Amino acid sequence: MQGMRRRTLLSAAGGTAMAGGLLGVGNAQAAAAPAARSVPRASGPYDQKIKQLMGRMTVDEKFGQLQQLPWTWDTGPGGGETKAVEDAARKGMLGSVFSIFGAKTTNALQKIAVEESRLGIPLVFGLDVIHGMWTNFPIPLAQAASFDPAVTVADAEVSAKEARSNGVHWTFAPMMDVTHEPRWGRIAEGSGEDPYLTSAFAAAKVRGYQGEDPKDLKAKDRVAACAKHFVAYGGAEGGRDYNTVDVSESRLRNLYLPPFKAALDAGVATVMASFNTISGVPAHANPHTLTDILKKEWGFDGLVVSDFTGVKELIAHGFAEDGADAARLSLNAGVDMEMTSTHFVENGKKLLRAGKIEQQRLDDAVYRVLQLKYQLGLFDQPYVEEKGEITEPSADARKAARAAAARSMVLLKNEKSVLPLSAKASSIAVVGPFADSADLLGTWVIPASEKKFPAGKVLDAVKKAAPGAKVTYAKGVDAAGKDTSGIGEAVAAAKAAEVTVVVVGEPPAISGEAAARSDISLPGAQEKLIEAVAATGKPFVVVLVNGRPLTVGDWLAQAPAVLEAWHPGIEAGHAIADVLFGAVNPGGKLPASFPRTVGQIPIHYNHESTGRPYDADNKYTSKYLDLPDGPQFPFGFGLSYTDFTLGDPKLSRSSVAADALRKGDTLEVSVEVRNTGKRAGDEVVQLYVHDRAASLTQPVRRLRGFRRVTLAPGKHTTVRFRLGAADLGFWTNDSHGHFTVEAGAFDLYVGTSSAATAKLGLTVD
Ligand code: BGC
Repeated sequence: MQGMRRRTLLSAAGGTAMAGGLLGVGNAQAAAAPAARSVPRASGPYDQKIKQLMGRMTVDEKFGQLQQLPWTWDTGPGGGETKAVEDAARKGMLGSVFSIFGAKTTNALQKIAVEESRLGIPLVFGLDVIHGMWTNFPIPLAQAASFDPAVTVADAEVSAKEARSNGVHWTFAPMMDVTHEPRWGRIAEGSGEDPYLTSAFAAAKVRGYQGEDPKDLKAKDRVAACAKHFVAYGGAEGGRDYNTVDVSESRLRNLYLPPFKAALDAGVATVMASFNTISGVPAHANPHTLTDILKKEWGFDGLVVSDFTGVKELIAHGFAEDGADAARLSLNAGVDMEMTSTHFVENGKKLLRAGKIEQQRLDDAVYRVLQLKYQLGLFDQPYVEEKGEITEPSADARKAARAAAARSMVLLKNEKSVLPLSAKASSIAVVGPFADSADLLGTWVIPASEKKFPAGKVLDAVKKAAPGAKVTYAKGVDAAGKDTSGIGEAVAAAKAAEVTVVVVGEPPAISGEAAARSDISLPGAQEKLIEAVAATGKPFVVVLVNGRPLTVGDWLAQAPAVLEAWHPGIEAGHAIADVLFGAVNPGGKLPASFPRTVGQIPIHYNHESTGRPYDADNKYTSKYLDLPDGPQFPFGFGLSYTDFTLGDPKLSRSSVAADALRKGDTLEVSVEVRNTGKRAGDEVVQLYVHDRAASLTQPVRRLRGFRRVTLAPGKHTTVRFRLGAADLGFWTNDSHGHFTVEAGAFDLYVGTSSAATAKLGLTVD
């Protein structure tokens, strides 16, 4: 068999989101080299102006532009000191400030930079507007569950408008770290386990923040986006935040890099380095990823910012001797702006004099900073109109957030059609620690928004949705802790009600950054509460509010219906009620597998095959003796209140020449989908590819197409996917970047989850 396989090496097909150019030179070995490799750049529209300005700058002022300081927040070592920030701005020794917002506040600080510094260079203001500023949308992981990039566009557009009107020019989003680690708290901030889905959401969000023209970010309702964290942060060993990542070149390019390339193709203005090491070289000092791939191979001409004290952390990593060494390594590797720590500005001049930094690298970094400021129009309009400041969510923004949250929910189980609930029910019990809780915004919210605009509560929304029902409430248990003394009251409420809604989950504080968990089941005694309600024998529904996949445990068998609502944001209550009562028919799908137990992690659909694939009847195959095969719920899974059937998928041709693919030829996969149930609803049709035999073992399936469709009962439509070189090929282990499509047999799976069984054969020859 081996000898019969032909290996047609097909070079990267440019122009697609996944297949980059082939301009890469250099290798990862040069991490400790003193000088950066120069990056050729095409001159942009602001070239003349930037060069003229740079001609007037002193070396100190140049390093000053590379400094970003925090305002009043403290998300780690460093903290914000407003006085120090003002002084640096006055001296012209500051390029940017972050964790700042408010028209008055930003204008006052900007005034210092523009009117009191020698050259009057405006500051660029950044903020982590991750899933909303005042109007919190569902967390990004939830948005990905919608399988509808329009959801993330809605968030980005509302966010950009609110942020810019508050003087914020730059958001540190979208986060696009693919991860196979549900223990990692930051899975909440990304789009889950798949690079294709993540790429689609990353690109859409960048466009939503920035608009269509990345060279022009002047509009009042746009902000510069930031692709983060570059790169492979989601590979943290054991899911422990900031942990080591050891990754092959092929996995780096096939799994972690594609969303960043997609963000670049969408015009993302900035990129943030990641806290992790990449095969021994910290991402903040990694010339292979930052310069060779990002800036040279992909031609990224925007700004690379460090992540918080990522430059300083090179010392703790055991990679840099001291601050000066950290500055040298990081700047030379390709970081342009240092956030929070101050090693560039403190050591830059000395390093330059000693020849440890080249003038060209310094100028290149400064150029990138100034270019962003020109793109944002800050030299012409450094201030924001104070009367235009948005200080609260508008009715339209709330409406969009409510629709987005409902569209992101995933129905995991619905036996005997417990759901949707009837608005005419005579009595409903709403129990659980999140039933009467406003702590549903999710990770990364502006502290002021949490205080001023908390999430709507489920209890209130249920009362509104079923005005004729007697709605009772009991907390039962806390979100954490062992106290079960309140369970009796919840059980009594359940016994007395026609149906019970149990709202359980994770407090947002245990998801997000620095929030890894070794046990990802429902915290505290929440499972006991579910079991006690189940023991009443009355119908009930479990609503999960969480920031990561959970191990759902034994209680799943006892719960007739389970709705995954994630952390839904400001309109949490209404959005959950919309789905519970059927105003919205759930159509979301899981963007990450739900494991059966923690011991099964990593478990993800896009794994490679072993030489001994799982076989129930053969012990000597890849398996756990104490678990069935596969996850509890697979990637792409989600139910609806209606039923859909898919016809036999069709392929426009059963074979294609590799050469033709290289020239841009494509194939069409089509399938008819029909709503065979009684309600209008959504289905997400998914296409997966498997290269049966290749020169690098391939994932057993890879998502290469998805489409969410809405159909009235009895209606049908045909979903069409185009497949080209980018979908059938992969990146090899060549560090210079080599994308190949190999001849051979491919399986294509079409269905409604990653467990789809309908299969087509394709031959590439
Ligand atoms: C996070 C980044 C964030 C930055 C600035 C860091 O701790 O890793 O994602 O953008 O802080 O707040």
